[in-house]
Amino acid sequence: MSSKRSEIIKILKESEGKAVSGEELGNLLGISRTMVWKYIKSIAKEGYEIESSPKIGYILRSVPDRLNPDAIKMGLRSSLIGQKIHHFDELTSTNITAKELAHDAEDGTVVVAEIQKGGRGRLGREWLSPRGGIWMSVILKPTISLAHASRLTLVAGIAISKIMRKLGLDARIKWPNDILIDGKKVCGILTEVNAEMELVDYIVVGIGINANVDMNEFSDDIRDVATTLWSELGEPIDRISFIQDVLFELEQEYIRFRTQPFSGILDEWTSLSDTIGRQVTITTPSKMIEGKAVGMTEDGALVVEDSDGTREDVMAGLCIYTKAK
Ligand code: BTN
Repeated sequence: MSSKRSEIIKILKESEGKAVSGEELGNLLGISRTMVWKYIKSIAKEGYEIESSPKIGYILRSVPDRLNPDAIKMGLRSSLIGQKIHHFDELTSTNITAKELAHDAEDGTVVVAEIQKGGRGRLGREWLSPRGGIWMSVILKPTISLAHASRLTLVAGIAISKIMRKLGLDARIKWPNDILIDGKKVCGILTEVNAEMELVDYIVVGIGINANVDMNEFSDDIRDVATTLWSELGEPIDRISFIQDVLFELEQEYIRFRTQPFSGILDEWTSLSDTIGRQVTITTPSKMIEGKAVGMTEDGALVVEDSDGTREDVMAGLCIYTKAK
């Protein structure tokens, strides 16, 4: 979208329902009233509802519920993450597209889609991604070893749960990367890494948030274990401002990750964790581990203690709680 169009949208948004005349807009932007009118027509084509009257001017009545990159960037407080946003109406998977773009992309580039037709979850599972959700992938290029890449999953989990908590929701992190509200999954994170000679080339942090997804989109099985921000809050969220907050918080945590000892992030993850202190069964490709989750290692492995007191670090697997809280 051209900058004049974004400026017009910004001015109309800031005037909060009050009319702005074509002349005023023209003066502010240094263009003629006819040009203003042409821009207004093309903005309206994008789904913005603009009331116009020759006498009073233009009033912005509603904005489209689309994750328009210009709209996201307009109120963005981050200075690295989200400076470049690729938006698609429909993709197979934002992670796949992010990996295709990653080589030439700047650190912090974001790929976002309204719908994913082949959304991917952890452990090769499908991730249902209908309209209304937030399906996005962030390309990060930290100079770190491959062994430390999984730490970014924890970083993202902290950032997202903090934003949900700011909305008054009791968001907690289930190891390794699910965000739950009252025991139901509202967000999943799929981190994929590309490395050369043990050094990370890029990391794609794929974030799937059931934001304004209609619960009817879920099958009965999924409805039992999943929730949406809409149903938790009782009203749809403003997805654009939610993304702006997530990108800002993610940047804060990313800066902390790169500049401070990892122990601070580990402590915060532990305090937000839904898993530590619980009886778990973890299924890995090679075995099943049963015991109590007692902590997290610096590499993001869950420390599980069995009934004999023997401890094991588990890097990945399917985690099931075996006792109610
Ligand atoms: C999980 O909990 O299994 C992880 C789910 C991750 C889903 C997100 S949606 C955006 C990005 N693109 C994908 O295909 N997957 C991730």
